[in-house]
Amino acid sequence: MTTSGLRPLVAGNWKMNGSRSMVQNLVGDLVSKSRANPFVVAEVLICPPATYLTAATEMTEGSDILVGAQDCHEATSGAHTGDISAGMLADCGARYVILGHSERRVDHGEPSEKVAAKAVAALKAELIPIICVGETLAERDAGKTLSVVEAQLEASLPADAIADRLVIAYEPVWAIGTGRTPSSADVEAVHAHLRRLLGAWFEDGHQVRLLYGGSVKPQNAAELLSLPEVNGALVGGASLKADDFWAIAAAAR
Ligand code: PGA
Repeated sequence: MTTSGLRPLVAGNWKMNGSRSMVQNLVGDLVSKSRANPFVVAEVLICPPATYLTAATEMTEGSDILVGAQDCHEATSGAHTGDISAGMLADCGARYVILGHSERRVDHGEPSEKVAAKAVAALKAELIPIICVGETLAERDAGKTLSVVEAQLEASLPADAIADRLVIAYEPVWAIGTGRTPSSADVEAVHAHLRRLLGAWFEDGHQVRLLYGGSVKPQNAAELLSLPEVNGALVGGASLKADDFWAIAAAAR
């Protein structure tokens, strides 16, 4: 259990990486590691591209490894070429969906209000949204980190959220894929702020899991995951290697 008494969640965001053979090998490897190490406390989640959800779900059947998606559309169905609804993801075995990742906010111009609408759709489909917030380097340098993440969080939350159906990931944009991480004190300060906000906005806000994401590696996982109010990790690059991802999951207490 983390310092907040919550079961840690370690989620792997494959982004636009993977193949059918990678699902076979990497997911197969994770399933074996999970069976061989039943005392790992973290909930372990992999979020491959949507095309591989069904295969990953089949591979993980009967194991403790969960499968999630990286985005969804806010509508349930209709004329939205190329998009995928939350219900379709759930139908393919997804249990969680990452929403508002900075790469979606930037590459697809997704504002927080759209993220909130997607989160509502996710909840309706019984998916747990993992809503991402984080400041850019310029915002950080301008001393705006707390106000930026606060504004993103407030506008990205679904109206009817309850703690055990919601996860928040703090991912400083400048730490994603760069090998750079904030100091422990900085992570602590942001997570404490997010916790205070959630506590003020929801009756059970103290029970929302808060993940840290951005260059989490086996080398820094134990320290990051032991910080107060850090209830897990959202892992990009290091989730593409079974040994590294498993080492991070095993570091969560
Ligand atoms: P990274 O990505 O671990 O490769 O920095 C994290 C993320 O974008 O979720």
